[in-house]
Amino acid sequence: MRVEGRLKVTGAARFSADHPIEGAVHAVVVDGTVGRGRITGIDVSAATAQPGVLAVISHVNAPRLPYRDNTGSNNPPGRRLRVFQDDRIHFFGQPVAVALASTLQTAQHAASLVEVAYDAEQPSFDLDCAPTDEPVTYARGAAEQALASAAVRVDVTYRTSRNHHNPMEPHATIAAWDGDRLTVWDKTQWVGGTQAELAAVFGLPLASVRVLSPFVGGGFGSGLRCWPHVIVAALAARELGRPVKLVLTRRQMYFGTGFRPAYRYRLRLGSDRDGRLGAAAHHIRAETSRYENFQEGILSTGKMLYSTPHVSQEYRTVPLDVNTPLWMRGPGYATAAHVIESAMDELAYLIGVDPVELRHRNEPTHDESTGLPFSTRRLRECLTVGAREFGWQNRPRAPRSRRDGDWLIGTGTAAGVYDAMRSAAQAHARLDADGCAVVEAASSDMGPGTYTSMTQVAADALGLPMDRVQVRLGDSLMPPTPIHGGSQTMASVGSAVQDGCDNLRRQAITLAVQDADSPLYGADPDAVIVRQGRMSLRDRPARGETYCQLLSRQDRTHLEARGSFAPPPPPERFSLYGYAATFAEVAVDADLGLVRVRRLLGVYDAGRIVNPTLAESQAIGGMVGGIGTALLEHTVTDPRDGRIANANLADYLVPVNADVPELRAIYLRGEDREVDPIGVKGIGELVHVGVAPAIANAVFHATGRRIRELPITADMLQ
Ligand code: MOS
Repeated sequence: MRVEGRLKVTGAARFSADHPIEGAVHAVVVDGTVGRGRITGIDVSAATAQPGVLAVISHVNAPRLPYRDNTGSNNPPGRRLRVFQDDRIHFFGQPVAVALASTLQTAQHAASLVEVAYDAEQPSFDLDCAPTDEPVTYARGAAEQALASAAVRVDVTYRTSRNHHNPMEPHATIAAWDGDRLTVWDKTQWVGGTQAELAAVFGLPLASVRVLSPFVGGGFGSGLRCWPHVIVAALAARELGRPVKLVLTRRQMYFGTGFRPAYRYRLRLGSDRDGRLGAAAHHIRAETSRYENFQEGILSTGKMLYSTPHVSQEYRTVPLDVNTPLWMRGPGYATAAHVIESAMDELAYLIGVDPVELRHRNEPTHDESTGLPFSTRRLRECLTVGAREFGWQNRPRAPRSRRDGDWLIGTGTAAGVYDAMRSAAQAHARLDADGCAVVEAASSDMGPGTYTSMTQVAADALGLPMDRVQVRLGDSLMPPTPIHGGSQTMASVGSAVQDGCDNLRRQAITLAVQDADSPLYGADPDAVIVRQGRMSLRDRPARGETYCQLLSRQDRTHLEARGSFAPPPPPERFSLYGYAATFAEVAVDADLGLVRVRRLLGVYDAGRIVNPTLAESQAIGGMVGGIGTALLEHTVTDPRDGRIANANLADYLVPVNADVPELRAIYLRGEDREVDPIGVKGIGELVHVGVAPAIANAVFHATGRRIRELPITADMLQ
């Protein structure tokens, strides 16, 4: 059960905007209303005339900020957007001013009265025409020659639309200064990154900035960097000498907190008549902003998922007049899987081979991009188990051959892969004289249940029941951890927590066996185990004592230990990935083109599963997200000015309960100790990768129509 569940359902869990703070000033951002250009004037007279308005700050009156280079965060390379430092407009909705007042309503009204004049230029949003950044390329073998001589060729271009993260909790920041020290409560997936960025922007030592984020109401990636509004809040608090609270509206979340970039992805496959791949050529374009070059892991899948002797890849980012994109669930891998797994489906129908069988035929013996053996790779098993449990063998081969009244019925499958990431992390563990433990690490918990899984790991390592372990997270004063993203938290932070608690347990055992008054005196420490807070000899359980007895006899208030984890130094010895197979059944209204997902099954090779209930929840969330990507989610930009036309949850569609059918998840039992000591490979991204193409392939099977665009909407199927 979620240890933090009660706090959440009773409202006791404090999200960033909930933090109670004496005398906070409310800040409301004024959004720019052109997509590109210069600010020629800002009239704040009507706004500042309102009673209760304390200030309106813009580039006109804001102090110049140091904006030192920040090497401690994961900002993409480029010039950062410098908040209120000049008159340039880089994207529609860019913060151009902030209204500050004693109440939220006054600040909102004041913001609406700020008049901004612009010298507007025509912004560009065209992924096809714009010149691109230097491409990232990869090649093995000679893909063009191999394609030219291949017996069978597939040449397809897929387009995926821009998606927004839409976490339930809006981005919010509370900033408070005490002299030159800044404390910030922020919705972030990385307190360390936000701390580093704030320190760099304001020219402060790192130790002068503290960032807290104990609860995060969903992220999906939107909290993986520090966005301009965080700087706005800190800047305003410093100018006013009072704490400032800034909460973005849902609409503002579409402007200034990143998105999954739109892609145009051409893929050419060459195979023999049995479907064995000989060559693949990938030409990829994705949007980025003009001021930063955002890139993501779009290339990995095409390098290693299937055995392919000849591969060429070219990945170009196109600088457009947009806010910088950011990782969104299954970043890069989900988009790559959509194209590759759709194209594999096209190949399967072209040569008349079952789609599951086609994937088996292209199973590699090792990672062909690195030459390394796989640590664990059970994609075959995912597909086989999935096909069996889904009832795949009963499907008719030919598309458009099953009907249920007005509905055409089809099934589809797709594989998925995601990097088993892990990074250096630390944790601190303390055992108090009352026999309870407190474990701390800076990591966030954006909802997957990190508090719970860390409590499990700590309780296991310490030999304590879970209710005697308290885990604290989300504070930059705590031991440093990597971004709470890329599905690496369990592997990285979990391993550090385990190490710290192992150290603590060993410390207690060592004290006991060295203490002449302990029943364990003189025992071999390796023969001592701990259960329910009591240390005893493994084969003579009667001989032992509790942690409490030891600490009280020795007159100690507590014991403490540090834990750490770091991946082994390069070179890597194994290819480390998690694998998934998703199966989908859809019904498509033959006349109207409406698509309804009827059921989804995901089978995962994700290493050890620490908490099956939480893992199931992740899988369901990943599948629901995949339904959104496949059929609903599409950020629509007005090409005239870059305004996002559907910047709200009424017009930007995410799946609701009525869209969500029977979802089933199966995790293959296993573990992978090459990835981390706990044996996990990460699940949060993996469960999303491959869902959209499974649905799209089912739509093809139902209708015989191949839609090479996401989302697939009714108008495309009529
Ligand atoms: Mo996830 S896109 O790494 O929050």
